[in-house]
Amino acid sequence: MKIIQVHSKLNIYLILFVLLLVIVLPSSTAKISCSKVSNALKKNKSVEYNDLKKCLESFPFNAKLATETVDAVLHFLSSYYVFFDRAKEDPPSGLTYQPVDLKNELSSLRKKQFNSDYDFSVLDDTVDSSNKDCEVIEIGGKPALQAIIDFANDTIQYSKDLNVRFNMALAPSQQSFPGQFFQQFTLREDLPKTSSIKYNLTCPKKGSVNFERKWNITFHHGFGGFSFNCLEQNNQTAFSLNDNSASSDKVTKLTSRDKITNSTLNNEPKIAHAQKLDGGSLYLLNDGSKTGVVVISEEKVTDENGLKNDFQKLKNNGTKKIILDMSNNPGGAITLSLFLTSLLFSSKQPNSFPTDIMINDFTIPKIEKNLKANSTDDNDVYNPNFFLSFPSGSPFNSSSEFIGTRKNRTSNLYLNTLMPNEKKLLENVSFPWTSDDIIIITNGFCASACALITLYLSEIHKVRTIAVGGLFDNQMSFSTYPGGQVTSPEEIAGFAGDNITDVPGINPLSLTIREAYSFDENNNIKDVLEYSFKPADCRIYYDEKNVVDSSLLWLEASKILNNEVKC
Ligand SMILES: *[C@@H]1O[C@H](CO)[C@@H](O)[C@H](O)[C@H]1NC(C)=O
Ligand SMILES: *[C@@H]1O[C@H](CO)[C@@H](O)[C@H](O)[C@H]1NC(C)=O
Ligand SMILES: *[C@@H]1O[C@H](CO)[C@@H](O)[C@H](O)[C@H]1NC(C)=O
Ligand SMILES: *[C@@H]1O[C@H](CO)[C@@H](O)[C@H](O)[C@H]1NC(C)=O
Ligand SMILES: *[C@@H]1O[C@H](CO)[C@@H](O)[C@H](O)[C@H]1NC(C)=O
Ligand SMILES: *[C@@H]1O[C@H](CO)[C@@H](O)[C@H](O)[C@H]1NC(C)=O
Ligand SMILES: *[C@@H]1O[C@H](CO)[C@@H](O)[C@H](O)[C@H]1NC(C)=O
Ligand SMILES: *[C@@H]1O[C@H](CO)[C@@H](O)[C@H](O)[C@H]1NC(C)=O
Ligand SMILES: *[C@@H]1O[C@H](CO)[C@@H](O)[C@H](O)[C@H]1NC(C)=O
Ligand SMILES: *[C@@H]1O[C@H](CO)[C@@H](O)[C@H](O)[C@H]1NC(C)=O
Ligand SMILES: *[C@@H]1O[C@H](CO)[C@@H](O)[C@H](O)[C@H]1NC(C)=O
Ligand SMILES: *[C@@H]1O[C@H](CO)[C@@H](O)[C@H](O)[C@H]1NC(C)=O
Repeated sequence: MKIIQVHSKLNIYLILFVLLLVIVLPSSTAKISCSKVSNALKKNKSVEYNDLKKCLESFPFNAKLATETVDAVLHFLSSYYVFFDRAKEDPPSGLTYQPVDLKNELSSLRKKQFNSDYDFSVLDDTVDSSNKDCEVIEIGGKPALQAIIDFANDTIQYSKDLNVRFNMALAPSQQSFPGQFFQQFTLREDLPKTSSIKYNLTCPKKGSVNFERKWNITFHHGFGGFSFNCLEQNNQTAFSLNDNSASSDKVTKLTSRDKITNSTLNNEPKIAHAQKLDGGSLYLLNDGSKTGVVVISEEKVTDENGLKNDFQKLKNNGTKKIILDMSNNPGGAITLSLFLTSLLFSSKQPNSFPTDIMINDFTIPKIEKNLKANSTDDNDVYNPNFFLSFPSGSPFNSSSEFIGTRKNRTSNLYLNTLMPNEKKLLENVSFPWTSDDIIIITNGFCASACALITLYLSEIHKVRTIAVGGLFDNQMSFSTYPGGQVTSPEEIAGFAGDNITDVPGINPLSLTIREAYSFDENNNIKDVLEYSFKPADCRIYYDEKNVVDSSLLWLEASKILNNEVKC
């Protein structure tokens, strides 16, 4: 179970639709296991896998709560979830996921017999990794690559592109989102199927090495859930992908960088080929090309001024080209996507994809009320003042303009979320760079607000894109879940005026309530972005060097940007 809980001005975050479940009450048989778990948790100690499993499985099935949960979930999904119908359809070519008929699936849960159920969230980031050139041969008795692909395909839910899920299985963790989206193979959010994992490695010095790692299960206070780390802190193994493009069999190899004893969590990643300009995330490449790198790893409204200053610094420094590195970016405030695109490219139209929301009989009076009251609540999706009409860009004068002619959707809308202070920051900015001077590089996990930025820059402003990693010889997305906006049942029910106010019990549900569309030069709506395969223009593969030093990836990007190599 995964939930993003980050709060900032707009409280607008995007996420792929997230599953629910769970039904709980303790029984006597597993009391011993449960008390062991509870004692360990009280002392902030790690929990034994078998104790936790027994304890969790001991919670008897609560049929009444289960029925109420299914009812509420079905209500919220069918009333507000914008992909309710679309989720049934087969994936477009390039994307890999299972279509789901949500109504049928939920209904079938009613008939299914459960012995027990359990719920987890989130995990811990413990360590980073250092480099020792071992190659992982097998994981759990399977060829290593296959084990990771299977895990990514079957278990990781955040992206519809298997290449991106594959990267997410291995990508190093990021401090601001500890463990949540990264290194998912070794840092689990759900109870793993087995209590340990066996690895076979070959190392240049040591030769063949076999070992078995138990899960280190701890409770993550920040997220209120358990954390599963299959590699003990003192013996960390991380994986990197080896681009084997030179080899004829075109098989991507896995290499392992085995172990550290010091936590390097607070260490700076190695950046050997670029010079840091003052500020945290701004670099100049040292290849003589006057190329600047802006690393954006989250969309925070409080970063807007700093972002503007960063570009100003690059301009003052005489930077000719810009690389936007937006890898491992889980998203953030939607208004930042408008801000950043507007900062780089002025436009008569709002710099946003058209969007819409579902409407119900009971939301119409809310829409009317917000309009009459001239509401300035930029959190409330049913506030027409939060949007402009697509494609005219006009504000709405009446609820009927906002609602339009469709029965269960609003008309097409532009977001209108830039606040006066943001507009002021955007006043009089002028940068020398055109779309040819900018390139975006991501490892595919550029999610939600990040996805909207990169897709918009790519589709509308024709900025080139590079995807890094993934499986060999495969087109790959540079962004993930450009859904529109995600919220909780509680919040949406409040805005909608719904009498059903939440899902019962402790089950979190998180759902996409707006969707974003691509559009053509005549302002005709094209595709639902969430369900479109938008591969990057160019591709770079990870190797054991560039996986630990992003500046090597930037050097490659610079060559493409400066048209020294084609991609
Ligand atoms: C356990 O750890 C959390 C966070 O690290 C801390 O807030 C809490 O006080 C600790 N509890 C005990 C009993 O040490
Ligand atoms: C991924 O899983 C789906 C079933 O969910 C399967 O059809 C597909 O072949 C799998 N792809 C790979 C590359 O394993
Ligand atoms: C991997 O290790 C197991 C024992 O842990 C062994 O049985 C198996 O043969 C090894 N496989 C390879 C490819 O070395
Ligand atoms: C398990 O993880 C916790 C938290 O990172 C750490 O303090 C502890 O030492 C680990 N336990 C083992 C057995 O590695
Ligand atoms: C680390 O792993 C190696 C096998 O790769 C094992 O021999 C060693 O005991 C482990 N060290 C610790 C501290 O767990
Ligand atoms: C920890 O890192 C420091 C600096 O890299 C090193 O000098 C020290 O030996 C390391 N300690 C251990 C236990 O590896
Ligand atoms: C750009 O910044 C670098 C690094 O601080 C500095 O060495 C260089 O002189 C600056 N160039 C200009 C034109 O300001
Ligand atoms: C809303 O704005 C309109 C036009 O500016 C104004 O006529 C009206 O009185 C305002 N309504 C409220 C409730 O402030
Ligand atoms: C609101 O009214 C103005 C003035 O009549 C008009 O120009 C504009 O198109 C209207 N807005 C919409 C969304 O129709
Ligand atoms: C919305 O309306 C369309 C067309 O009227 C219909 O096919 C679709 O099932 C409706 N969707 C929902 C979730 O009610
Ligand atoms: C933008 O330029 C105009 C005209 O030069 C000036 O009046 C205004 O104050 C400037 N705005 C900002 C935020 O600097
Ligand atoms: C909510 O409950 C009130 C009072 O029972 C009722 O008047 C109203 O119609 C209900 N609204 C919806 C959307 O069911």
